[in-house]
Formats: sequence, C-alpha cells, structure tokens
Amino acid sequence: MLETRNQSFYLNGEPFRILSGAIHYFRVVPEYWEDRLKKLKACGLNTVETYIPWNVHEPRKGEFVFTGMADLEGFVTAAQKLGLYVILRPSPYICAEWEFGGLPAWLLQDKNMELRCSHPAFLKHVEDYYDVLIPKIVPYLIEKGGPVIGLQVENEYGGYGNDASYLLFLRDAMRNRGITGMLFTSDGPDMLKSGSLPDVLPTVNFGSRPEEGFEKLKQFQSDAPAMCMEYWIGWFDHWGGEHHTRGGEDAAEVLDEMLRAGGSINFYMFHGGTNFGFMNGANQYESYSPTITSYDYDALLTESGDYTDKYWKCKHIVGRYTDIPDMEIPEIPKVAYGDVLLSDMGSLFDYLPDTNSKMNSAYPLTMEQAGQNYGYILYKTAVEFPGKYEMDTRGIHDRAFIYVNGEHQHTIYRNDEKQTVTLSFSQSVNTLEILVENMGRVNYGNNLKDPKGITQGIWLNNQYIYNWEITSFEPEMFLGNTKEYKGMPDERYPRVFKGTFTADTVGDTFVSLSEWTKGNVFVNGFNLGRYWSEGPQETLYLPGPLLKNGENEIVVLELEGNEGATITLLDKPQLG
Ligand code: GLA
Repeated sequence: MLETRNQSFYLNGEPFRILSGAIHYFRVVPEYWEDRLKKLKACGLNTVETYIPWNVHEPRKGEFVFTGMADLEGFVTAAQKLGLYVILRPSPYICAEWEFGGLPAWLLQDKNMELRCSHPAFLKHVEDYYDVLIPKIVPYLIEKGGPVIGLQVENEYGGYGNDASYLLFLRDAMRNRGITGMLFTSDGPDMLKSGSLPDVLPTVNFGSRPEEGFEKLKQFQSDAPAMCMEYWIGWFDHWGGEHHTRGGEDAAEVLDEMLRAGGSINFYMFHGGTNFGFMNGANQYESYSPTITSYDYDALLTESGDYTDKYWKCKHIVGRYTDIPDMEIPEIPKVAYGDVLLSDMGSLFDYLPDTNSKMNSAYPLTMEQAGQNYGYILYKTAVEFPGKYEMDTRGIHDRAFIYVNGEHQHTIYRNDEKQTVTLSFSQSVNTLEILVENMGRVNYGNNLKDPKGITQGIWLNNQYIYNWEITSFEPEMFLGNTKEYKGMPDERYPRVFKGTFTADTVGDTFVSLSEWTKGNVFVNGFNLGRYWSEGPQETLYLPGPLLKNGENEIVVLELEGNEGATITLLDKPQLG
C-alpha cells in the first residue's frame, strides 16, 4: 500500500516517487487507451491518473453505463497490464472542463437541489451512485493486488465551499464501501484549509512557482510529501478565444525544479483528448464561455496522441531522475480522405413528427425538467395579438433561434448586451417558436448551477406567455431517419446534411468545416462534437477506430447556414 512518512511516499514499504500523468479514459476512444498509456510509460512515468465522471456513468437516475468509452475497469486493467499504477478521482464533482463538472444534469430536475454540500437529496444521489461505483473499484486497489494506489476526495473543494461535514461524508462513503489505503484532496496552495480534512493527505495544484506551492503545503501540514496533483502543463480553450500554449522549455524547467526538490507530480494533462458529443463544460465569470470540443490542452501528447516538443523536453528531465524504458510504439496512420459532398436531408423541423419526446406545459419547463440532459429543445406557443412587441430573453440558456409563423426573426445568445428583442406578429393568431441550444453547463465556481432551455417565464407585451408545447431533440431522431426523409421541405435552419465516403485504409483524420457555421458532426452514428466558425478550433478530430473499411456515413447538423455542402478530411488538425 501507499503510505507517507517524513514528507515522503512509501509504496509497500519502499521509498516511492509518484511520476504521474492524467489521461481521461472518457476523452479517448478505448482502442487508443493502450497507445496513450504506452507513450506515458515511455516518458518515464509510473502512474496514470484519471477522473471518473458521474454524468457519463449514470446518464439517467438509476441507469448505469460502464462500457465502451465508459469502461473504467477496462482502462484500469490496460494500465495494470503495462505495469502502471493508477490514481482515481471518483468525486461526484470533477471540474475538468467537463459538462457540469461531471455532475449529472438530471440533478437539476429538482430546482431546490443544492450541490457539493450536505443537502440530503444530493447526498442520497451520491450514495446511490457510490453503491454501484465503489464496488467496481475495490478489487483494483493495491491492497487487493491491483494498480490503484490512491483516490481523491472531492476536487478543489477549498475553491468552492466550507462544508466540512460534506467532505467527511464523502470520505466515509468511500471508506464504508471498502476503499482502503491512501485518500487525498487537492487544492490551490491558498485554498488548502477548506479543501482538506482529517486523515486525508492534502496535495497542491499549480502550473508554476513550485517552491512557493510546496512551501504552502508544508506550512499547512508539515509531514505531507511535496505532491503537485495537477501540474498544469498547458490550458484549455473557449470558443471565440485564443488557443492557449505553453512552451516546452518552460514546462520542463518547472518540472525539473519540482523533481529536484524531491517532489511527486501528476501532469495535468499528459494527454487531453476530446470533449466528444455534448460533453464540454463552460465558465461563467463576466460572460458565459463554453469550452471547445478539443481538449488538446497543449499537453505532452496532442489531441490525436502525437508527441510534442514538450513531451521530449519533459522526458529528458524525467530521465535524470529515473530509468526510462525502451519501448516500441507503432505509429497510428493519419489519412487525408479529401472532400466529401453532403446532400441536404431537410430541416430539423421536418423531423418533428418523428419524435415522441413532445410534451405540453402551462409554463416553460427547463430542459432538465423536460427530462433532457443535452442538445436542443424547442418551445412553441400561440401568440394571439398582432403588432410589434419586446420580448425579454433573460433566462434563455444558452443560444436560441426565434421564429414567428415559421420565419426566423432573431438569434439570441446568453452573452448579448441587450436582453430583449422586438418581435413582429402579423396575424391574429401567431406561432412563436424558440429553439434553444444547450452549449455546455458551467463546470466551475459559483455559477455551477446552470439549468438550460428556458429557465424563467417569457415576458412579452406586458404579460407572461403560458401554454407551451416542448420538444426535446435527440440526435438519434434524424440519424436513424434520414433515409426515410420524404420532402415536405421546411426552409429553415437547422438543417441536416448527409454523405458517405469510402475508406480503403483506416486511420485518423480531421474534419475541416470551412464552409459551415455552427453545429455537430456525426460519423457512423457517433457524435464527434461541436464545431463553430468562431474558432479557435477549425477541425474536429476523427479517430480511426470510428471508421470502417469501406463506406462511412457522415451527418452534419448545421444550425445557421453553409456556403457549400462539402467537408474535407485532412491529415492534420487546425487549432488556433
Ligand atoms: C483545476 C481542476 C481541474 C481543471 C483545471 C484546469 O485544477 O481541478 O479539474 O479544471 O483546474 O484545467
């Protein structure tokens, strides 16, 4: 087992230095876990660290998923086979630029739900989840002959709250279900007090000034080993922002400083991977900033698993402190499949009759109350007064298209300075439709509670508008049905496009969308994630294992408009 004495780690009684790197199994296709883990080992590291996202494993209350990209045990086993140790962070909340910080969206069905504190309903949901999750982990503990040497309680709790009994509850919830051995917390060097708890090792997170960080940890707990649980080697990106980079030289220098001081480290991230599907998080400070699809992070490996200059520089430093194994790792081919012309398969509205996720409500329900976690949701009502009126758009999260009698009148965004729009109603009875896009829930800070759809009443012409028909758009709806598309053309965007291409050899490729504005790409039914002409990301990573030898299908859901209907499959990414 892993223990600490006199500011040092001991593993099964021997002095041990944790040389770890973060790889999130839920951000990498399972076929590539081994490749990424081998590259981690070949860098001289002895441990892999991963979060465990609750929302992936319990997408609906009581419905658990542990297969495919959610095969936690498969990932731990893959690490073990390579002789790596594993650190797990199974807290209900993980931050990680992940949708809602890993919390399941369905928690928000209850408007009174308090998160990350001793709210009885929240704790009950955590217990139900842990009843399923923790027994899966126990057999992999080092005390049982497995590779798991440590587990984290909560995540940077000092930067969120001061409910000490909630931390104790989580610690005991793990212990009572059979977690033995090392437990730890991790926090910024100035946040250690509220983030830590008795009998649990404190660690620190930072990207620079290691001496200062380690000194604060020592002051807080004099016998704690110097452990940087998140060494921020790069950073994440937001739509409309710059792509963040951090020089390899600088990253390697700080690494050297930490290792010279006898420190243990976990690179955050060793390999970032991808926010596939709708799983990106967001930040909300002055404005709402959703995270892009790529979680490249300017990490040691790129989003598609390639070595970077930073990898070689850091490996060189690691090599001064430990033996580096000599490993043969086959290269994964990159293929430029070229242009694929897609055909217009109609408006999203043409698929409306196919959905059974339609409901009526006197007042607009939030997306969560309507039983939906992610994607798009349509609100429809009748407005029985002609004329021009201001409508209050506050509380529409995050972005919406507003149509009157089937005509697009406005696109609004949560960040718009003006939070009203003027709508023109030409008839005595008008149809008002509001199609709302959930662009990712906030994953950090005091705006964590981030319900989607229409989150407060719609105020128009000095009254609240009641009686809504609400339709949840699940992508499966048009993915399965495009073949049967019969026409009845609705002119409106969003529109569905589809095409096929033939792969003679299968390899990684990058979907370039220069003719398109905003939407999602689906390859053989797999949701690759969002694209948006705002950048900095211009291509979507398409890992080879999602392709087949022979014909492959690509569906694009374009929300706003496209200049042409061609996508191009490149052999290189364009990010920033
Ligand atoms: C904190 C969190 C991580 C991640 C990083 C930023 O350290 O603990 O989950 O969000 O910030 O990438």
